[in-house]
Amino acid sequence: MTGAKGQLGSEIQDLSASVPSDFEFTDIEELDITSMDDIREFVSSQTFDTVINCAAYTAVDQAEKEEDQAELINKKAAQNIAVMCCEQKARLIHMSTDFVFDGTSHTPYKETDKPHPVSVYGQTKWAGENAVLKHGDDVVIVRTSWLYSSYGHNFVKTMLRLTQERESLNVVFDQVGNPTYARDLAGAVLKIAHAEKFTTGIYHFSNEGVASWYDLAQAIVDITGADCQIHPIETYQYPTPAKRPPYSVLNKAKIKNTYHLQIPHWRESLQKCLSLL
Ligand SMILES: NC(=O)c1ccc[n+]([C@@H]2O[C@H](COP(=O)([O-])OP(=O)(O)OC[C@H]3O[C@@H](n4cnc5c(N)ncnc54)[C@H](OP(=O)(O)O)[C@@H]3O)[C@@H](O)[C@H]2O)c1
Repeated sequence: MTGAKGQLGSEIQDLSASVPSDFEFTDIEELDITSMDDIREFVSSQTFDTVINCAAYTAVDQAEKEEDQAELINKKAAQNIAVMCCEQKARLIHMSTDFVFDGTSHTPYKETDKPHPVSVYGQTKWAGENAVLKHGDDVVIVRTSWLYSSYGHNFVKTMLRLTQERESLNVVFDQVGNPTYARDLAGAVLKIAHAEKFTTGIYHFSNEGVASWYDLAQAIVDITGADCQIHPIETYQYPTPAKRPPYSVLNKAKIKNTYHLQIPHWRESLQKCLSLL
């Protein structure tokens, strides 16, 4: 597995520790996946039957001024991994994002909907999907959204801190999507990795339910009892370098039916994550 120290990678490590498995966990210190030579050297002495690519450039705003670096990791490195999997005859589970969509839909995005990213991050992730599909053989791509975890930096941890420090906060209410607990996603990814039948293709995974960033912040206050007023504001009142899709709700019917998944509601999962923090 690549990106082992990220949010998803850390959750996969935690979950797989409780069952016998022979995963090899790598992050950039062990293996820089932008280098095909390093990848070939890494796999020269061992064989893999499944590779999970959690490594990515995920700094959405920073990507607007670091396009080359974002493309190197999200497209070129993803392609490297797909080529290596082909050579090894290994299955590949590659992670992608709801930010491949422009957010103009009014109904949950299906895998068959055409991507149209509105940010550099989204463009490079979509380019990565295409590279993986072109160069890979046995590939599952899982698009997810609004990821948070007790590991790493994310909106939930930032809000948890700010709602304890401040009397009031302004949070955007006109961007709507699916908050996703990386631990639930990790469970789904491991289920796919261990599935008897590896059904290739693109899949959408997020927690059930729908929320705005405002709803998510308010839920954190409700659960923690923090003494902080959350005020809804519009996107234009909180300008960011990268444009975000105003609506990126994902339709999860395909992954639920194919891999027999039961997905918890985002509030239930948020509560579980907050209890760890
Ligand atoms: N975070 C979200 O809200 C979100 C939403 C939708 C989809 N996703 C997707 O879900 C997946 C997992 O996201 P995440 O939040 O777990 O990401 P993350 O926390 O940013 O972790 C990514 C990991 O990849 C590592 N990495 C970066 N460049 C690398 C390289 N060249 N070689 C090897 N490792 C490298 C990073 O190391 P450094 O930290 O040292 O750079 C980091 O440990 C990604 O594909 C992401 O695009 C994320």
